[in-house]
Amino acid sequence: MIEWSREKRYRKIEEAKKEEIFELNKKVKECPFRQMYHIQPPTGLLNDPNGFSFYNGKYQLFYQWFPLGPVHGLKYWYHTSSTDLVNWENHGIGIEPGDWFDSHGAFSGSGIVDNDKLYLFYTGNTRDENWNRVPYQCLAIMDKENNIVKHKEPIISTIPEGYTDHFRDPKVFKVNGEFYLVVGIQNNEFKGRIVYYKSKDLINWEYRGEVKTSLDNFGFMWECPDYLELDNKGVIIFSPQGLDKEGDKYANIYQSGYIVGEKLDLNTGEFNHGEFVELDNGFDFYAPQTTEDPDGRRILIGWMGLPEIDYPTDKNGWAHCLTLPRELKLNKDRLIQTPIKELEKLRSNHRSLNEKIEATEKSFDEFHGEQYELNCEIKDFESGKLGLKLRVSENEETVISYDIDNNKLTIDRSKSGEEFALEWGTTRSVDITCKTLKLRIFVDTSSIEVFINDGEKVLTSRIFPSKESRGIKFFATKKCSISADIWSINEK
Ligand code: FRU
Repeated sequence: MIEWSREKRYRKIEEAKKEEIFELNKKVKECPFRQMYHIQPPTGLLNDPNGFSFYNGKYQLFYQWFPLGPVHGLKYWYHTSSTDLVNWENHGIGIEPGDWFDSHGAFSGSGIVDNDKLYLFYTGNTRDENWNRVPYQCLAIMDKENNIVKHKEPIISTIPEGYTDHFRDPKVFKVNGEFYLVVGIQNNEFKGRIVYYKSKDLINWEYRGEVKTSLDNFGFMWECPDYLELDNKGVIIFSPQGLDKEGDKYANIYQSGYIVGEKLDLNTGEFNHGEFVELDNGFDFYAPQTTEDPDGRRILIGWMGLPEIDYPTDKNGWAHCLTLPRELKLNKDRLIQTPIKELEKLRSNHRSLNEKIEATEKSFDEFHGEQYELNCEIKDFESGKLGLKLRVSENEETVISYDIDNNKLTIDRSKSGEEFALEWGTTRSVDITCKTLKLRIFVDTSSIEVFINDGEKVLTSRIFPSKESRGIKFFATKKCSISADIWSINEK
């Protein structure tokens, strides 16, 4: 972990000297791992997506940002917008911390449109002289010129009775003309929970109590809750901290997942639901947020990173990126996640293949690259293992393998390039049973997102290979047929 003193971490941008900013920009520029088509911070650290919404004819998206280095310091909201969810325009600082109610950071939150304005709810993080945390739930209002004005005081100033000061990440939504906020919280028994509030005018909020789930002992804190309805069912997404690893499940330091049930009863807070399911089974995924767009699509974006882990880009003065946007649908009680269709705009230079392979590992002339989309369908297999290797060179490879006999798909980044987070292991696996294996893979300079079988499961991971690692190989211990398409993305 890069050691930064408290004084250094809790500085505003203007407190940094010109030379420091110059050096920081230079280091970022020299980094070989800058992404080509993912949202990443200009400098410093990005974490959660915030305020994801559609306003003024554009998707509006913010993210948690500490500008001055790859550490969790004084958090700003950085603002970006897009008409197509693919090309993003950077607007710089959205919400700037520093008032009495957000002196130690403008923490995560969400947005909703009302009265032709974008209402942004966030957690004002403050610390008193003894460094005790005092959280406030705050409001800032954006107009069509992107001017963001903070409400003069917090909209929720007290922690509800029975809970600790871990109280953050308001997500706003509207049901039957009334507004609600769900907020992550920890109770006095140190268990993660969600509480909710109700409002008619987005300014005055009435405390309604706890969202009553059947997950009593399920981690010490639930961050970034989200509530949405799909096909007349209710879905709660949240990021629990403190779950122990169970087989292949909960393998990362913290988790993000969902529970599906009947619609949340907004009078009683009752939520009858099924089991908790992780949203992503890769190495680097946390604190996602959704929005509904004008076409009625429910779109999710996550942080492609995790707290408390060092990443290879730290030494270049920046860390993390956001995931690609995914469309959510419900199939029975499981979320199906597919890359939004607009991503096809990124495609260029199409190549394809149709091959049968048997007990071999093979590369194909036109199949290689550093940033690309690769779709493949593998079938006619009976047993053994098969899969593909990406970002391959003599010493590096990222392996996706399907163990047909054990119905397990694994991503192995042990030889992906620069090593990191080794204490959390170098493989992630997920149960997949199928006769045809469909993989839709997005590779960027330092990431890989694998959508399995039309979005049944997703594996998202950072990898840090060298530029020369551009090979793609298919392999099978027995036999299979492969059809594949590849498109370069942004490649010269
Ligand atoms: C999740 C989180 C949120 C908090 C924010 C601070 O990653 O810890 O709970 O609001 O990050 O940056």
